[in-house]
Amino acid sequence: MREQRIVARAPSNIALIKYMGKSDSTLNIPENPSLSMTLSSLCTVAEVERSGAGGNYWFPELPRFRPKDLAPGGLWISPDLSLSGRDKLLRHVDRVRDAVPALYDQFGIELDRETWRSAGLSLRTANTFPASSGIASSASSFAAVTLGVAAAFATDERSWSRAWQGLPELRRILAQLSRRGSGSSCRSFEGPWVYWEGEKAFVPHGLRLPEMAHFVILISTSPKQVSSSEAHLKIKSSPLWEKRVERVAARTAQLLEAMRSADLRKMSHLAWAELWEMHSLFHTASAPFTYWEPGTLQALQFFSQWIDQSSPPIVTLDAGPNVHVIVDRSEKDLWRSRLKEQFKDFQILEDAQGQGAKIEEWSTNGVG
Ligand code: PMV
Repeated sequence: MREQRIVARAPSNIALIKYMGKSDSTLNIPENPSLSMTLSSLCTVAEVERSGAGGNYWFPELPRFRPKDLAPGGLWISPDLSLSGRDKLLRHVDRVRDAVPALYDQFGIELDRETWRSAGLSLRTANTFPASSGIASSASSFAAVTLGVAAAFATDERSWSRAWQGLPELRRILAQLSRRGSGSSCRSFEGPWVYWEGEKAFVPHGLRLPEMAHFVILISTSPKQVSSSEAHLKIKSSPLWEKRVERVAARTAQLLEAMRSADLRKMSHLAWAELWEMHSLFHTASAPFTYWEPGTLQALQFFSQWIDQSSPPIVTLDAGPNVHVIVDRSEKDLWRSRLKEQFKDFQILEDAQGQGAKIEEWSTNGVG
């Protein structure tokens, strides 16, 4: 049996309109649309090796592959997956494997049928940022694993690349499959901006935005106490949940309009309102919970002075204490100095908008 080694890479994404609350928790269908920027170097790399022995395995080891754009001394971490985390990931590997024959049929990819039935898959994954700290590691991990496993049963690279490069719908279908593992991962397949509603995630048309840069002020890297899966359930006990779906629909329409007219000030306002709304849901749930640390509040106080300026940063938080700041790339150096000056006690990560998941390396017969 031919051995194959595939390295897939998928970035994290940061939402300005949040996915928080599911209408179907088996399929991970969101209650409301969400909109995110796809990142670039904050990513997961998944190395998938197909070999003779059966079964799927995840090894807590770094992949042999290392991204070329990894900064010297940059973070490169094999995630510390709990038993249930491994279980969830490996169940997802089975889900993707099961979907492969129909997927290949639909997109004209040649299936190595014998291998698909019996081959073993070994996975090694690594992140360029600390997991469980409010940078969506589940988004990048599930997207990278979905892509790597989906490609693993093609007879050769050419057969896969023809479909991947020529048929954009393949990305969309993989995004749907990935969503089953982690909802927000469906927004990591394309870029630079992705809108997700119901089953579908896609790049909205007509956006006129400049290229954007992204910073994260790392307030804390401790694992979070409330997982996002728990948060999706708990927020529905908040009195603020009522009418959230209507409010967020209106905010999303306004945001899309602002993005189509390159109105960064409006975007900044809307993202600010949305971050406060999501965290207010956490703070008013029964029982209430918070992701904030003292540094989070310090940062929010600092940014509140900027939100009404003529060229404000776009500030948001994920389900975590860390503060994401998106700025026009032409102002990146200015903001880097400003943030370094203001947040001397915290590490600051830097990234840019990105294009989504891709295959980094493909070797056959155990080469590499
Ligand atoms: O994909 P999940 O179930 O981990 O949910 C993540 C939800 C948030 O990151 C908090 C918000 C979002 O839209 O990314």
